[in-house]
Amino acid sequence: MTATRPRPIVPLRRRIAAVVLLGTASVVAVAVVYVQADVSTVGRLSFDNPVNIPDLAEGEPSPDGSIRTFELDVQTGFTRLIHDTESETWGVNGAHLGPTIRVRRGEKVEMRVTNNLPETTTMHWHGMHLPAYADGGPHQPIGEGRTWSPSWIIDQPAATLWYHPHPHGATERHVYRGVAGMLIIDDDIDVELPEAYGIDDIPLIIQDIRVDNGRLSESDPIADPIGRLGDTILVNGTHDPHLNITSDRTRLRLLNASGARTYDFMFDDNRSFQLIGTDGGLLNQPVDLQNIQLSPGERAEIVVELKAGETSVLRSVEPDLGVNRWDARFTGAHDSFDIIELRAATTLSRNDPIPNRLAPEPIEQPDVDNAAIRQFELSGIEINGQRMDMSRIDFRIELDTTEVWQLTNPTGTPHNFHVHDTRFTVLDIDGDPPPPTWQGWKDTIYVPPGTTVRIAVRFTDYTDPTLPYMFHCHILRHEDQGMMGQFVVLEP
Ligand code: C2O
Ligand code: CU
Ligand code: CU
Repeated sequence: MTATRPRPIVPLRRRIAAVVLLGTASVVAVAVVYVQADVSTVGRLSFDNPVNIPDLAEGEPSPDGSIRTFELDVQTGFTRLIHDTESETWGVNGAHLGPTIRVRRGEKVEMRVTNNLPETTTMHWHGMHLPAYADGGPHQPIGEGRTWSPSWIIDQPAATLWYHPHPHGATERHVYRGVAGMLIIDDDIDVELPEAYGIDDIPLIIQDIRVDNGRLSESDPIADPIGRLGDTILVNGTHDPHLNITSDRTRLRLLNASGARTYDFMFDDNRSFQLIGTDGGLLNQPVDLQNIQLSPGERAEIVVELKAGETSVLRSVEPDLGVNRWDARFTGAHDSFDIIELRAATTLSRNDPIPNRLAPEPIEQPDVDNAAIRQFELSGIEINGQRMDMSRIDFRIELDTTEVWQLTNPTGTPHNFHVHDTRFTVLDIDGDPPPPTWQGWKDTIYVPPGTTVRIAVRFTDYTDPTLPYMFHCHILRHEDQGMMGQFVVLEP
């Protein structure tokens, strides 16, 4: 009987005791079950604080203009997360989070990442198509005081990516403490979209934290099967935030940079918005939606319209995680949050309507009739019954060959799936066509309990017989515990 499964004792504030009577004609059993109280901040925020907009990292072009170098200094510092108490946090070129790196397709970049943390870290460019040596996974550790300087040519369409550490076994902690930033790729294709950074093109890095006496807390009051679920939301590091809107149409780049929490974003007045892009770039055409769910690591670009003087609150309502009622309490499936209030000025500048054609190269499902099928069973904290082993290459892939990856979650626990170096399309979920939010390019995808998601994956350009890329669950504690594997891409 699952109801008697032992759970660690937790502070009463977080839970209410429920008494469950289990009766039959001859036996009456009494079990005390601790139930996690649902977390909600809906209607309780003041939205007093102007949301922080991360600085744009401009980089330094070389004298001949052939390469642009970005200095990224990973460091410790102190930040007022909430109230007046300073908390130790980690960041890039600052005490908490990092600058937004904005690069252009076709340019060569060098990232000079210096590690001033008191321990080894790495820096991974999530969503980037790049050679394995530059990927920044667990095979590219940066020791204390060391600098790692990979360079590569940006070669993919405009998209919203992000960067974060990927040290073996410690990613959740490094990201939670604040080492994360947005990475925007532009291209030369002319699609009329809001693109004035911080004005009508706004990065929103969303993380949930726990705060204890004003400080970032790393204690885990319950043994969450998916890792630490915070009860306070930060947007670009700001709590209780608002965003001053100055245009009639505003583009929001949503990034779920949380370790474990899935959000289902919508507006408090149910207004619809246009989804224009997902992880790997623009959609074929905008899609009108009222909500969009993002699991850890996923991104969405949306355009929202406001009239002069209006306000609207971006909110996260209970996500549909596909978990049963028992497991739901430990996965955030019953939690809801007010995220940020949008406040439109009394006069707004005008942006053109969003064009009906977006992706310059239309996204098409590849022909997979004869494609090789690869199975990934996500179970416990293992993939195909194995945990990450840095010295084991799980498989070898041929360059320029489309494969079908069949992602199965036979358990009751949420998992998602991320693959490095490439972007993929979703073929189907339990045989049904993907929902509108999964019809664009993806690099991270939720795999609901009891479900099989099939994706079409292809690797191009870069081969390396020894240095692998990673695939893993992007619930960061699962990743840290070993729910990850590695593959190399080889010449045919
Ligand atoms: Cu965002 Cu392998 O990670
Ligand atoms: Cu990644
Ligand atoms: Cu997982």
